[in-house]
Amino acid sequence: MPVGLDLRIIAGVTEALVQAAVYRRTVQVSLERVWENARDWEHLPWLHASSFSAIDFQEEGDWGWRARVTLQSEDAGNVIGIELLTDEPALRYVTRTVEGAGRGTEIWTVLEPKDDDITDIEVQFHLPASVGSQAPLLGQAYVVLYAQLWDEDEAMMLSRTAELASRGDRSHDPVSLDLGPSDELRKTLPRTVDFGGHRFRIVDLEGDLVVHSASCPHWLGPLDGCEVENGFIICPWHGYRFDARTGESANGHKLRLAAAPRLAVDPETGRVRLESASSKPGGGPEAFHAQARFP
Ligand code: FES
Ligand SMILES: [Fe+2]
Repeated sequence: MPVGLDLRIIAGVTEALVQAAVYRRTVQVSLERVWENARDWEHLPWLHASSFSAIDFQEEGDWGWRARVTLQSEDAGNVIGIELLTDEPALRYVTRTVEGAGRGTEIWTVLEPKDDDITDIEVQFHLPASVGSQAPLLGQAYVVLYAQLWDEDEAMMLSRTAELASRGDRSHDPVSLDLGPSDELRKTLPRTVDFGGHRFRIVDLEGDLVVHSASCPHWLGPLDGCEVENGFIICPWHGYRFDARTGESANGHKLRLAAAPRLAVDPETGRVRLESASSKPGGGPEAFHAQARFP
């Protein structure tokens, strides 16, 4: 779908708009990451949980996406319909409110890549002219909101960029990592360790020591800070849920956590170590995730 000022005509929105504010910032990530982030409707109620509480996805395509979003607001039932329309050749996209409070608002985002990993952002807030003298105040509120959203987005994009870069450094050689005596280890849990260039977390689940990948298989989100609830971990970026013991998806996604090393205990010294799952004789799917009960 082509994007331009004629969008208002296509949508039958004829109300005049006023530019209430402009927000500018530079993000230390590539243009590719920024486009990926703009097209990613799924992260709104997770990464931006303080601003949005739910999203009801409607459709998406090369043109962008459309959804109903529930705002984190003291006003109950504050649902707005939004659509994000991209114009990639012109390096811009517009987020339009098509339903609910603020209907007719258009937020234009213009991108300017400055370097491989630096992108300038300009966000223009165009509000229906009917807001009248409220425009500066509303514009300022949008600036504050977008500063926070971009803080959260940039943190996610930086983390994803670093994770993607570190993938090439991973060693696949079988390795072993001494974790010390089991009673000492338990005092340090949950604990994140680097093993073969991949981050894993060791947690205590009802007495079992369980090792799980600390990197989400979806977009490489960080799983080392997640609470484990009833044996499940929820990724903070898009809310994908995984069984910490088996690594399997618990909310229907065709993804599972990366294979974890297994835990072994030396019967003589009582010391615990991590061992590459592939080093286990006959190690197969059962070695996919590691768990063990130690005294
Ligand atoms: S990175 Fe998307 S759910 Fe984890
Ligand atoms: Fe975002």
